[in-house]
Amino acid sequence: MNINLEIQNNVDLLEFSDEHFIIFTRLFFFIMMKRTKVKELFSSPQLGSDVLVKGWVRTKRGNKNIVFIALNDGSTINNIQVVADTSLFDENLIKDITTGASLAVTGKLVSSQGQGQNIEINASAIELYGKCDAVAYPLQKKGHSMEFLRENAHLRFRTNTFGAVFRIRHSMAFAIHKYFNDKGFFYLHTPIITGSDAEGAGEMFHVTAMDMMKLPYNDDGTVDFSNDFFGKQTNLTVSGQLEGELGALALGEIYTFGPTFRAENSNTPRHLAEFWMIEPEMAFYDITDNMDLAEDFVKYLIRYAFENCREDLEFLNKMIDNGLLERLKFVLENKFVRITYTEAIDILTGSSKEWEYPVKWGNDLQAEHERYLVEVYFRKPVIITDYPREIKAFYMKQNDDGKTVKAMDVLFPGIGEIIGGSQREEIYDKLLSRIRELKLPDKDLWWYLETRKFGTAPHSGFGLGFERFVLFITGMSNIRDVIPFPRTPKNAEF
Ligand code: 4AD
Ligand code: MG
Repeated sequence: MNINLEIQNNVDLLEFSDEHFIIFTRLFFFIMMKRTKVKELFSSPQLGSDVLVKGWVRTKRGNKNIVFIALNDGSTINNIQVVADTSLFDENLIKDITTGASLAVTGKLVSSQGQGQNIEINASAIELYGKCDAVAYPLQKKGHSMEFLRENAHLRFRTNTFGAVFRIRHSMAFAIHKYFNDKGFFYLHTPIITGSDAEGAGEMFHVTAMDMMKLPYNDDGTVDFSNDFFGKQTNLTVSGQLEGELGALALGEIYTFGPTFRAENSNTPRHLAEFWMIEPEMAFYDITDNMDLAEDFVKYLIRYAFENCREDLEFLNKMIDNGLLERLKFVLENKFVRITYTEAIDILTGSSKEWEYPVKWGNDLQAEHERYLVEVYFRKPVIITDYPREIKAFYMKQNDDGKTVKAMDVLFPGIGEIIGGSQREEIYDKLLSRIRELKLPDKDLWWYLETRKFGTAPHSGFGLGFERFVLFITGMSNIRDVIPFPRTPKNAEF
């Protein structure tokens, strides 16, 4: 009796029902098939072939017989349409496919009759990786404000706008490395923790391992750092330039590309407390070579974006800033204007505009002045050189007039200053006297000064603020929206 039953059971197991067959083939597909990214489906569609895609649901529509799912996997702004015949799937599965849910779909890639897409997938199997509560999910179909999305920065990558921005940001980072590598520059990793203030502006975040509740003090009331981790006061770098110069004076041409930190309390759409900077530094370049490189570099990046980020740029042009493509093209096709600070002051004083900040030789240019020059007067990117020495950093090469330095700021439409740079003071005595004049701690800069003692050479460099550049190339208007997790005064969420 027992034996018979067992035999009966075995036969049941061996006989495939239709249902078993379907489950088996689905499993087989998921195990055997290689995932194709949606970008690849669109760029080289193999019509009639079976494909496996994985992504997040953007929308679902349809009726009780058929549903259309727009699936996005982040590889491109385009969604792939998945068509599911509901009779082939479990009712609950179809119900759980809501906006935001994560799926794996296998099916045949076919040309689409519907409007808005050329291809679609006829789903044969769907696996639900992660459900998404339609009520609790912050990203609803209606448009959200940038502020709201900033508060939901953990999810904003899933919107079309932020997908486009961060794909472009990636492409620009890649293009930057490619540009310099192709030119024979070496990528130099300068330290994040330093003991010096490269800009001499004192806007630094301190780094310490001391117990803030029990700080040791010197007799004069200052904090005693001698027993701190590094045995001295340290901070997060404001710029990799000084160390970059050491590299350039041996390797010839180097660049840094890393995070920099500024504790300046500027709550503007152009300032971050943590931003990324690209700083090329070149031996044997004078200020003109430096300007030529800056202009060529920026134009290369725009060209690269046109060639590699077309769809994302077109989306941003349509949805965020209608003048974007026009402006990029304009900057690409026109030579940057080059004027001295003194000429800029003459233009500004000659205009009939009422300024909030007075225009006077010796004062720094404010955003309103820079915007006037770039957006009203020249209507082109402008490079301003030869600023008064008092408003620029200690390391800039002093001009023979005794009043100005070989500084260069590149100003862009809609952004203002995008690049700051200079030819560097390579003469030991002049550099040391400037450091002393400004009461900077020359003892801490002994290594910087030594390069001017041992085989000094003319050299130059500049810093491009990466996020300011990403603002320009995407047409976004707030710098908090072009870095994944912005750090600004009173904000370090995520
Ligand atoms: O003009 P800056 O302060 O120059 C330097 O740091 C030099 N050491 C660069 C060099 O010559 N190697 O900064 C360079 C650029 C600015 O033009 C701007 O684009 C960006 O860095 N920048 C900021 N971006 C975002 N938030 C801030 N708080 C920024 N401060 C500067
Ligand atoms: Mg500057």
